[in-house]
Amino acid sequence: MESISRVGVVGCGVMGAGVAELCARAGLDVVVAVSRPASVDKGRARLAGSLDRLVGKGKLSGPERDAALARISFTADLGDLADRQLVVEAVSEQESVKLDVFATLDKVVEDEHAILGSNTSSFPIVQLGGVTSRPESVVGIHFFNPATVLPLVEVVGSVLTDASTVDRAEAFVVDVLGKQVVRTKDRAGFVVNALLIPYLLSAVRMLESGMAPIADIDKAMTLGCAHPMGPLSLIDLIGLDIVAAISESLYREYREPHYSPPPLLARMVSGGLLGKKTGRGFYEYP
Ligand code: CAA
Repeated sequence: MESISRVGVVGCGVMGAGVAELCARAGLDVVVAVSRPASVDKGRARLAGSLDRLVGKGKLSGPERDAALARISFTADLGDLADRQLVVEAVSEQESVKLDVFATLDKVVEDEHAILGSNTSSFPIVQLGGVTSRPESVVGIHFFNPATVLPLVEVVGSVLTDASTVDRAEAFVVDVLGKQVVRTKDRAGFVVNALLIPYLLSAVRMLESGMAPIADIDKAMTLGCAHPMGPLSLIDLIGLDIVAAISESLYREYREPHYSPPPLLARMVSGGLLGKKTGRGFYEYP
């Protein structure tokens, strides 16, 4: 089978931009599809900003940045993904939006061997496959934020995914993107979030109970356990809305109280305090 050189990424938020950047820096031809024309400029600026940062740190030359950017084109039409050999969906963590994207990808992607991947953190891959005529080609390819930095990718086959699809997805992630893979079963949260989310929710419950202030909860885990960042900072990085959505998926699947979203988290999401991306979560970001 032809090696993968033409990649599509759906969505250009924090995760979509990270995946597109990784692919472009690996020399691939990348088409990024966003939901509306107004998002194209924002997506391009996000990607350019990230590459500029690498140039500023001396990790990328100006010409390398320009070459990476030249390999990425933007569109607001999923139909422009017709010739892609791999598509990674990285839209917001809302089931109906993801289902719509997969139903459309099924219609527009022409190559019958194309891999349709999702960066979902917690929705069943089998359901995403179920709205397509090719569930055997649908696989979870789950990156971690910041995707350009963290080495892990979870690769998730559903009960309907072909073993060869999982093998090809893993080979791509390891050989082309230079990441490391853990394969997991198609269960809410996969491995990382099934372990991480209850810990993060416990930190919110601890804050709600008045046990310690925000900065001290974080300080306790960075200094006491050598975590790179404390749990409340990490929720701000991931996005409070994303943590709440994953929590709801986990709770729906397992019905265990430690997966349920604490009221403070739900209220902050309702109030638009989504973390770093909106300038305010548990902390404020200038
Ligand atoms: N984009 C690109 N690069 C970034 C970055 C970003 N947003 N943030 C940091 N970096 C890079 C920096 O450039 C730096 O690179 P060099 O050392 O090579 O110069 C490196 O990462 C370290 O950054 P800093 O020195 O600025 O800061 P730090 O040492 O505090 O690291 C961090 C920042 C990488 C975010 C680190 O704190 C960390 O790993 N935190 C934990 C993040 C984590 O747990 N993520 C997983 C979340 S779960 C998830 O994503 C899955 C899900 O489904 C919800």
